[in-house]
Amino acid sequence: MSPYLLTRTLPADAMSSALRRDVLRGLGTDPKQLPPKWFYDARGSDLFEEITRLPEYYPTRAEREILIERAPAIAAATGARTLVELGSGSSEKTRHLIGALADLRTYVPVDVSESALTQAGQALLADHPDLAVHALVADFQNGLVLPDAPGPRLVAFLGGTIGNLLPAERLTFLGAVRALLSPGDALLLGTDLVKDESALVAAYDDTAGVTAAFNKNVLSVLNRELGADFDPDDFDHVAVWDSEHEWIEMRLRARTAVTAKIPALDLAVGFDAGEELRTEVSAKFRQDGVRDELAAAGLDLRHWWTDGAGRFALSLAFPSD
Ligand code: AVJ
Repeated sequence: MSPYLLTRTLPADAMSSALRRDVLRGLGTDPKQLPPKWFYDARGSDLFEEITRLPEYYPTRAEREILIERAPAIAAATGARTLVELGSGSSEKTRHLIGALADLRTYVPVDVSESALTQAGQALLADHPDLAVHALVADFQNGLVLPDAPGPRLVAFLGGTIGNLLPAERLTFLGAVRALLSPGDALLLGTDLVKDESALVAAYDDTAGVTAAFNKNVLSVLNRELGADFDPDDFDHVAVWDSEHEWIEMRLRARTAVTAKIPALDLAVGFDAGEELRTEVSAKFRQDGVRDELAAAGLDLRHWWTDGAGRFALSLAFPSD
């Protein structure tokens, strides 16, 4: 049995001080906004898993289809001995990759959620007893350091999560990934693609209301972590397609004038009736844009694979030396 190691690169209070900073900044500006990472407490992570099973939410199924079909090609193109997965969550889709990478010795799941890491890591070890799992509790947007592990290394960033970063954040992030890679290492990147507006909006505004509950859950996070007194029922879930930026925005719209106290920040926040708080950007991509963004970070797009319906893409990129 290989070892299961867990390294915490986050001090215990790093997340809570980052939350305070983001809330102070995001609710103090006009228009109001919060980064989407605060959705994912235990309930938010469960709601997200539920979203991935909704009929309207196609990205997870589309990406799984590509991974199953292309895992052998990914293995052949990379010969990876180490797989690093950023934002690994449940590691569910990654299993297809792990099964196909014949030379794989070490799996490094990286996530901010220690509970998700431990659960996923133990489950994987049960099926792959010879795999060394070195879990990293880390925020992939903040100074990523990888454990020493043999190359070639494949860094995977799946699910279309790169679309939750703004363009400038994406460039910073991809540059940081590039800096981790040596010649022969690779990046596997999942991106949701631009498509018909009605299909996109439906994926973020499902009829069962799961995405609405997921969106409003961020207010419960603020209530619990900061002692705030938001009533999620004071807000409506809104999903809109921004055709200029080619991204979906999720927002929470105040039904009436609302004032919320946030004791931990010694703050009171007022919303006018109809005022919106942006809680997520989910950018959708085209191949040219992905190639350009990778190139700007020193990465060369070598493979582009989509699902049969052309809804989602996996890119394989290598350092452009
Ligand atoms: C899979 C995390 C990228 O933007 O589609 C799902 C999260 N937000 N429904 C996405 C999400 C609303 C999501 N990521």
